[in-house]
Parts: sequence; structure tokens; C-alpha cells
Amino acid sequence: PEPGWTETTDVLVVGSGVAGLTAALHLREAGLHVTVVTKVNIDDGSTRWAQGGIAAVLDPLDTPAAHAADTEIAGVGLCDPAAVRVLVEEGPARVRELIRLGAAFDRNPDGSLMLTREGGHHANRIVHAGGDATGAEVQRALHEAVRRDPWIRRVEHALVLDLLRARDGRACGITLHVLGEGSEDGVGAILARAVVLATGGMGQIYSSTTNPAVSTGDGVALALRAGATVTDVEFVQFHPTSFVTSSVTSVQRPLISEALRGEGAHLVDGDGKRFMVGKHELAELAPRDVVAKGIHRVLRATGADHVHLDARHLGKEFLEGRFPTILASCRAAGIDPVTDLIPVAPAAHYASGGVRTDLAGRTSIPGLYACGEVACTGVHGANRLASNSLLEGLVFARRIADDIAAGLPEQATPAPAPGPAWVVDPAVRPGLQAAMTAGAGVLRSASSLAGTAEALTELAGTRGAPRVDAWEATNLLTVAATLVLSATERRETRGCHWRDDFPAADDDWRGHLLTALGPDGRLTDTFEEMA
Ligand code: SIN
Repeated sequence: PEPGWTETTDVLVVGSGVAGLTAALHLREAGLHVTVVTKVNIDDGSTRWAQGGIAAVLDPLDTPAAHAADTEIAGVGLCDPAAVRVLVEEGPARVRELIRLGAAFDRNPDGSLMLTREGGHHANRIVHAGGDATGAEVQRALHEAVRRDPWIRRVEHALVLDLLRARDGRACGITLHVLGEGSEDGVGAILARAVVLATGGMGQIYSSTTNPAVSTGDGVALALRAGATVTDVEFVQFHPTSFVTSSVTSVQRPLISEALRGEGAHLVDGDGKRFMVGKHELAELAPRDVVAKGIHRVLRATGADHVHLDARHLGKEFLEGRFPTILASCRAAGIDPVTDLIPVAPAAHYASGGVRTDLAGRTSIPGLYACGEVACTGVHGANRLASNSLLEGLVFARRIADDIAAGLPEQATPAPAPGPAWVVDPAVRPGLQAAMTAGAGVLRSASSLAGTAEALTELAGTRGAPRVDAWEATNLLTVAATLVLSATERRETRGCHWRDDFPAADDDWRGHLLTALGPDGRLTDTFEEMA
């Protein structure tokens, strides 16, 4: 659709979680005018739901090399060592900046930061806030800082549609649909000298996810339509322990933080047996993919829809003080972790892949950056290590701001934008989620993926009116099809990509699948071996 109105800014940031707001604040330090566009309200993204914390080397006995080693083990051979080094070496300074900004992390009686452990970590290096409400505190601190700055314009209830590009191909703005009032209502354009995508993840392609309703893969879909390279999309991580309760009817399921296992809770099957013991040296604290697979095996063998987490031995006082969020959501559903076992099952949690970037957050399109879950910087490989996600947002947002500030071109004039050719019927959403869960979820095979691909093709034949819900559904379909293509291509098991028909890792597959969307609307994958 033709934009009905146009505004300009220096840098446009799309998304308002840890990555987007941190980028906006650093860009302001460089004196630039920033506009932050967000799909619903500023605080509605995934960041505020994060429980466990932020991993960073803050204990004098810990080292960046040890954090890098844990990150690379979790990533099963696909992490980019240079990106991991940046993450672990710059992370502590970024966490300290967040503290200076006002984020209040939990502290020991002597005033030092309280550090905990989660799956895949061999050291206590995770800072947390409010016990298990780290994301909410991070979001609060960033949002307050952004609100204080009159040179950061905030545009809420605005879904981005497509990237605007100059004749030389450079990104120079976006079109968006704003549900607002007056001149801003409807489809408009914001022109900018650089665009930062920080739109978060895509968990809503599945029937159960820890992600909020807004996580519909909008940034990855936009980047694909614009011709950017997307990679590693088959590596969607399933969090082992989402809360299973009939009292929650939304696709988003409450998270039961890995930190609860970090503090000593055990996973048990229907007979009360600790089934992760003997499966991995870290038992319940093995990397997330290993634990999710362990649970899935129990569910497959027993036909149950959940296993249990036993935290009773941790005691009322400790549980109430350390995990208030988890206790509140369990108790609201009639389960008291002080006296009851907690029913849990894996749910889609994090997209380890995304829009491919270099170490400065630059995508394959000049002037277009990606940061946070929407991006694939190379730090996560085939499976993200616990609590590295808020960290990645903090670290790479700063790098992006520095790169933009170092050389921002003048505003370019956009070439005519083709816009989305069509949109699907928003009613496809539950069918898409069911097809993805059935055939492209925790466990996949050639035949299950073929079944999902067929279902998606059928859903793609529907048509909807060009409204926000239809664009969202179209984005979901685009990223779901991308995932199914790459998951079909990758004939091995690695990290969070688990193939029933190819149950082992294969050195021939040690590399990345790069996905592109052609002008004919066809998705293609190219394999790139690890350097
Ligand atoms: C959790 O608290 O278990 C989630 C942390 C993460 O996703 O890194």
C-alpha cells in the first residue's frame, strides 16, 4: 500500500526490548535523533518475560574464556568464535552500564552481586533481579531512561511492513501500519539514515511457547522480503520447563526458569525417578537441548503431556524469596511448589538463528542492522546458552550504535517500494501453529517436515484483507516456511535441531544454511561450511 504520511529521523529502531532500547540510548549518546517503533506497547516484547538473568563474568574466579567455552559447547560446533569472544569480553562492561542506568540486580548481604547458575554453565555467572524477574527490571530501567529523553520519539501500535531502499540499495526507511489517530493512522513511512531491526523472536509459530503474542517473526520476514540473508533458522530452542496447566489457554505458557534447577530442583518422571541423572555429567543442568530431548523421550515413552519438577526440598522461605514470579503463576493455577510437584514440558523459547550480521550488527543490506533475537550474530550456533540472550542484546546494540555513529550517510530518497503482494487470512494462525508443532517441533523427520510443508502451502493459498493481523499471519507463514525448508535440508541432529531419521551430528553439516527469498517468492537455501 502507498504510504499516506511520511516522517524522518536519523536512526529508526524497530522493536523495544533490551536490544532496541539499548541501541536507542547509545545512539542518543552520539547525538542522533532516534525513533523507536513498536508493534503494541513499549513493554510488550519478550524482554520483560525473561526470568533467569544475564550471564556475564563478574566473579573474580570466573574467566571470559570459561564463559566462551560453555557458550561454544552449547552451540555444538556452529558458534563463530570471534562473535563469542566479543560477547563474553564486552558483556561485563555492558552489565555495569545497565546498573549505572538504574537496573537493580539482586545482591548478597555484603553488597556484591548475587550470581547463580543455569544449564550448560560451569560457573555461577548469572545476575538476576527481583529473584526471577530479571527481564522486567531490565525493561523498566531501559524504558525509564528512554522516556526521559525527548530526542527519542516512540511510536507504539505500529507494525512494520517493508524496508525502503534507495536506488543504490541502501536501507533508508520503512513502511508501517499505525493504529493511531489523525494523520498517523493507517500506512505511513518513516525515512531514516539507518534502520535497526530489534523485533525479537518467532515463538508464535508453535502452539506453545514462552514468547508473548507479539513474537511473530516480523523482522526476519521483513528482512527476507527486502533480500537480506537469513541463517540458522532451523535452530529454534525449546525451553525444557514451561508450566503445563489447563488454566492457561493462550499460546504463551508461563516459564519455569532454569535457575530453579540451578538452585537444586530436580526433574522426575511419573515414577518419581530423576531421569536426567546418568544422561549427562550436568544431569538437570545439561545444556537446554539435552534436557528438552530427555523430557521429550519420557513423554514419548509414557504418552504423558508433562514430567515434574521437584523443588519442595528447597523450602518455603527460599522459594518465596528467590522465585516470587514462578510461585505466583503456579499458585494462581492451584499448584504450590512448596508442597507440590510442578508439571512441566518443553515449549518453543528462542530463535538461535535470524538475520545474518557481522560483528558490528550489519546485515547483508547496507544501512540495515539487526540486533537481539531477530539477529544471527554467530554467538549461539546450534543452541543458545542460558542467559546469553539479554547479554547479546546489550553487547551488540552498543556495537551497532558505534558503527552507525562512525559514519552515517545523508538521508537518501527511497525507490518505489513494491510492498507485500498479498496477505494471508489471519484465521490461518492456529492451523499453522498446529502444523509446526506436529512436524517441525522438538523432534523432526523428513516425513513430518513434508507433512508440515504441505499444510503450510495450503495455508499460503488463503487471502486476507491488508490489516495488521493478516500481515502478522503472513510473517508467521514466511518464517515457518523458512524453518521447514532449512530443517528439511539439514540431515543431521545438532543442538536444538533433532532429526529422528538422522540421529547423530555429521561433520559434513558443520556449517550454516543461508536462506534467501527470490523475487519469484521462492525460498532457497545455500550451505556454507564453517570457516
Ligand atoms: C530461564 O530463566 O530459564 C530462561 C533464561 C534464558 O532463556 O536464557
